[in-house]
Amino acid sequence: DAAVLIEGTRIAWVGPAASAPVPHTAPAHLRERTTGGRENGYSPHPRPSDVLSRTNGAAALEREEVAVVDAAGRAVIPGFVDSHTHLVFGGDRADEFAARMAGQPYAAGGIRTTVAATRAAGDDQLRRRLARLVAELHAQGTTTFEIKTGYGLTVHDEARLARLAAEVTSEVTFLGAHVVPAEYADARDEYVDLVAGPMLAACAPHAKWVDVFCETGAFTADESRQVLEAGMARGLVPRVHGNQLGPGEGVRLAVSLGAASVDHCTYLGDDDVAGLAGSDTVATLLPGVEFSTRHPYPDARRLIDAGVTVALASDCNPGTSFTSSMPLMIALGVREMGMTVSEAVWAATAGGAAALRRDDIGRLAPGTRADLVVLDAPSRTHLAYRPGVPLVHAVYKDGARL
Ligand code: NIG
Ligand code: FE
Repeated sequence: DAAVLIEGTRIAWVGPAASAPVPHTAPAHLRERTTGGRENGYSPHPRPSDVLSRTNGAAALEREEVAVVDAAGRAVIPGFVDSHTHLVFGGDRADEFAARMAGQPYAAGGIRTTVAATRAAGDDQLRRRLARLVAELHAQGTTTFEIKTGYGLTVHDEARLARLAAEVTSEVTFLGAHVVPAEYADARDEYVDLVAGPMLAACAPHAKWVDVFCETGAFTADESRQVLEAGMARGLVPRVHGNQLGPGEGVRLAVSLGAASVDHCTYLGDDDVAGLAGSDTVATLLPGVEFSTRHPYPDARRLIDAGVTVALASDCNPGTSFTSSMPLMIALGVREMGMTVSEAVWAATAGGAAALRRDDIGRLAPGTRADLVVLDAPSRTHLAYRPGVPLVHAVYKDGARL
């Protein structure tokens, strides 16, 4: 029995439908029903729960120019905020996945396969794949997403990926330090200098964030620090891939630099958890990776109980998590990581917003962006209760239906 009032691109009011500041019935020509053939089929007691959308400000209210969308008892939640993806790449690694499921372990070096395919792909080819993935995210209720570079690993290719990413999101992350490319295998110091120097300079104009893969097989803590500090000197804010494949220094490094987020957090010591709890760094958990690599899931319960801010994200990438489904992350968070439904939905919305240091998304409250998802379900609980079922009925971004 709730209603949301939208003015232009922002939420103006949220509350019980009965006390909405505009009538929740409107002239017939302004009524826009979203209900389809399945309406109310899931609900024992269907009651109107409305999304009220008004486009012309106060004057429209006086003239009653209010478009009313009757959600017919469906739950309405904030659009998902996917704060960690690698959406710009060429090729795929289905064969590597199949081999892994047959017993091969995952290693960071697999990234080089995607680097080769990405370098070989033209801009338009990458753009078309990216557009398909963005449509896939939107269709599943994601209204804000971050994208990392990291499959180019030359000055030219990293700048190209940053530019393509910036065409579809304002949340672009420079990840030149994803892995040492094959041609620098015997000269890793030179590669780190390239990343922290000319590559960063070429990418920084398109990016907001700088990230490193601080892990055995990728970059050491010292190398990671060099790249992150160079990025910070150029005004980028640090984030870190850490503690994914084993215990390591990623979390400590992230906390010491005041990173916005440290992502993966699969293998944590008590000192890591305590460090995160005493910091503003969000722990972003990416259970699609554990699902696709058969590593143990990160312990969200331990982090939340220690007072750490936890986000859930897809890590959509061709190597370790080729899924863009935030509902799947919620289901895994609840079923495998000790989260309550409320905590998991919060982590996939407000938590993602915190990881991107955004206060205009991730919540339904007056003044925030009108980014919302109408679920084909009477409550958000169904996101975890009905795993694998497409429950997204409608998605609104900045007040407009996608
Ligand atoms: O987040 N951890 C590093 N990067 C990706 C994996 C990328 C790949 O294997 O292509 C991740 O899991
Ligand atoms: Fe990642």
